[in-house]
Amino acid sequence: MNRMKLSFCSHLENEAFARTSVIAFLMPLSMSVEEVMEIKTIMAEAIVNAMIHGYEGREDGEVIVSVSYDEQKIVTIIVEDQGCGIPDIDLAMQPLYTSKAHLERSGMGMSIMSAFADEFYVNSKVDCGTTVTIIKQIHGIEDQQ
Ligand SMILES: Nc1ncnc2c1ncn2[C@@H]1O[C@H](COP(=O)(O)OP(=O)(O)OP(=O)(O)O)[C@@H](O)[C@H]1O
Ligand SMILES: [Mg+2]
Repeated sequence: MNRMKLSFCSHLENEAFARTSVIAFLMPLSMSVEEVMEIKTIMAEAIVNAMIHGYEGREDGEVIVSVSYDEQKIVTIIVEDQGCGIPDIDLAMQPLYTSKAHLERSGMGMSIMSAFADEFYVNSKVDCGTTVTIIKQIHGIEDQQ
């Protein structure tokens, strides 16, 4: 078992910092190129959602990313914000639904995270914030040989 936690403010430029930090933390799992790409995409989608939707672009919000893995290489990622929350989670999770069509969002972030994860959960309360939990089994490069 290993775990870490990152806390950073909701500047969009911190998305790359958090995404690459998570990949670095997961290095001991010897992820395949595809798994690295999937985790990077999951991180980008979850963090950008927290910043753009949760904090509605405000740069002084706090985003918290917690990551852990166990001996079976099961990775758990939790991305939290204390932003505006999601009034209707079922609607938000529908492919192509976006509340920010004017920002040219495609409404696919939740669907992409869900597709790349083994388990995907969203908890949210209006005016309190949102927590996204992603659980993913890593097979690593050893399995491909
Ligand atoms: N952390 C969050 N806080 C508040 N609302 C959120 C949060 N994450 C998602 N949402 C809501 O869920 C909707 C769907 O999210 P999703 O990531 O699927 O699409 P999008 O962000 O609008 O577009 P895309 O991710 O394709 O750029 C968002 O438009 C927003 O209304
Ligand atoms: Mg999104």
